[in-house]
Amino acid sequence: MANKVIVETNINGDPVELLCEPRQSLLEVLRDVLELTGSKEGCLTGDCGACTVVIDGRPVCSCLMLGVEATGKKITTIEGLAAGASLHVLQQKFLENASLQCGICTPGFLMSAKALLDRNPNPTEAEIRYSLAGNLCRCTGYDKIVRAVTDAAAAMAGRGRPAHGTVPSETASGMAGEMLAKGEVK
Ligand code: FES
Ligand code: FES
Repeated sequence: MANKVIVETNINGDPVELLCEPRQSLLEVLRDVLELTGSKEGCLTGDCGACTVVIDGRPVCSCLMLGVEATGKKITTIEGLAAGASLHVLQQKFLENASLQCGICTPGFLMSAKALLDRNPNPTEAEIRYSLAGNLCRCTGYDKIVRAVTDAAAAMAGRGRPAHGTVPSETASGMAGEMLAKGEVK
C-alpha cells in the first residue's frame, strides 16, 4: 500500500485534516475516507457531473482531482448546502419543480447551480443552461432543473424567499427533502 499523506483542507466550513493515498481522487476521499457520500460516482471521466463539488467558488468534478490537491482549499459538498435543518433555496425549488427523479444527478446539479448563483445572482436562461452543461441527467429532460434554478435566483434576489427558507429538510416532501439535503439516493 502506498504511503499515506496528510491533507489539511476545509470542507463545508470546517477545518479537516485527513490521511489519503497520493493516487486517491477527491471523490474517493470524500466518499470513502470522510463518508460524505452525497457526491455521486458516475462516469469517473469528467463527463457526467454527478461528482461536482464547489472549490474556492468554482464547480469541479471531484473525480478528476486528487485528494492531495485539496490542501488549503475551501470545499463545499452537497452536505454543506442546507443550513442546519433548513433546505437551501435551490433545494426547495428543485422540490417545488419536481426537478429530480432517480436523484443520482441531483447533488451535482445543485452544486453547479450554487456556484453559478454565487457568482451571477441574476443569470439568463442561456447562462443557466451553459453553466449546467457539464451535468447530465437521464430522467428529467432538463427543463424542470432550469426552471428550479431560475426560481431560486428570483427568490434570492428578493422577489421571493431568502436564500435559506423555512422548509425543514425532514418535512419538505418527506424523503425527497432528506435526499436533497444529504444527496442520498438509495
Ligand atoms: S463521476 Fe465525475 S464527472 Fe462523472
Ligand atoms: S434525476 Fe435521474 S439522472 Fe437526473
